[in-house]
Amino acid sequence: MNNACMLLFVLIVVGVARTCNGRGLVKNFYKMTCPLAEKTVRDITWSRVATNSALGAKLLRVHYHDCFVMGCDASLLLDTVGTVQSEKEAGPNLLLSGFDVIDDIKTQLEKDCPGVVSCADIVALAARDSVSFRKRPLWDVLTGRRDGKVSLASNINGNLPSPFSDFATLQQLFAKKNLNVNDLVALSGAHTIGKAHCGTFSKRLFNFTANGDADPSLDTRYANFLRTKCPNPSDPATTVEMDPRSSLSFDSHYYQALTQKQGLFQSDAALLTNIGSARLARQLQNGNAFMVQFAKSMLKMGAIEVLTGNAGEIRKKCRVVNP
Ligand code: HEM
Repeated sequence: MNNACMLLFVLIVVGVARTCNGRGLVKNFYKMTCPLAEKTVRDITWSRVATNSALGAKLLRVHYHDCFVMGCDASLLLDTVGTVQSEKEAGPNLLLSGFDVIDDIKTQLEKDCPGVVSCADIVALAARDSVSFRKRPLWDVLTGRRDGKVSLASNINGNLPSPFSDFATLQQLFAKKNLNVNDLVALSGAHTIGKAHCGTFSKRLFNFTANGDADPSLDTRYANFLRTKCPNPSDPATTVEMDPRSSLSFDSHYYQALTQKQGLFQSDAALLTNIGSARLARQLQNGNAFMVQFAKSMLKMGAIEVLTGNAGEIRKKCRVVNP
């Protein structure tokens, strides 16, 4: 190879390495095939967030629940067909919402560029755009995902951590997705926005130790406050803000609360039970440090077991596989 060829080869390799993440996702995948796709996702998402500020939390959680079960392939969006329940019907997914926003975006994109933009990419972009409402994007989203054809409620088991998980379980479930402890701590920071139902943490408030006490890893004053919010632990409807100071603002308050023993779930508190993750939680109290690590971890989460190339399909409707 002469020098000019060598230089060209190096430039191509560097260029490819910059835009790919090794699994076939790239920046602006639809540049040639549907140039306005990302703008369309953002415009529709923002118009919906403008009238529903809770949507950012909803769509971010949808993206996480999609990626952790069968990878980021929009399998979560599929409706049950026949008697075998789809992922959506599994217990931890019953309270998810925001699917109608994905449908609206898909309908528009099918008009603009039929059969081109995957539901899985729409989910990833809409999660980012809803949280970055009227701001510059808070993290980069690579695209090029394709949609899966299988969705089974039973696949939730052993994939999605529960709010009662201890550190070892969280670490193991994240490791299964190639996510390390830094990713676990940073992604848990998503709990800086949104709400939780009393049933997901009320065990910690009442008779946790069998002496009638609250969970000793929970700040006493915060536990008392939560008891006033959730007087009836079996009430399935009541919710509380996960970051009572700023549940609509994507900031590092989660870590400030966490390090003061005010993380809402046992799985949040568990992050303080490991020396390394507790140290990182203290570091991520710094807003910039949090956003840098969160953005890195979201790139990894958004690439879990993605379908690219000729795998899967581009669904015409996000709720059903193509005929
Ligand atoms: C570490 C393991 C995790 C556990 C055990 C967990 C568990 C939960 C639970 C139980 C809720 C409350 C749901 C409800 O009552 O409606 C919740 C809410 C939420 N989670 Fe997580 N989660 C985890 C990680 C994540 C990750 C990685 C993300 C995103 C990157 C995320 C984003 C959210 C958001 C935004 C909400 C608020 C949803 C809303 O307001 O409707 N969570 N999570």
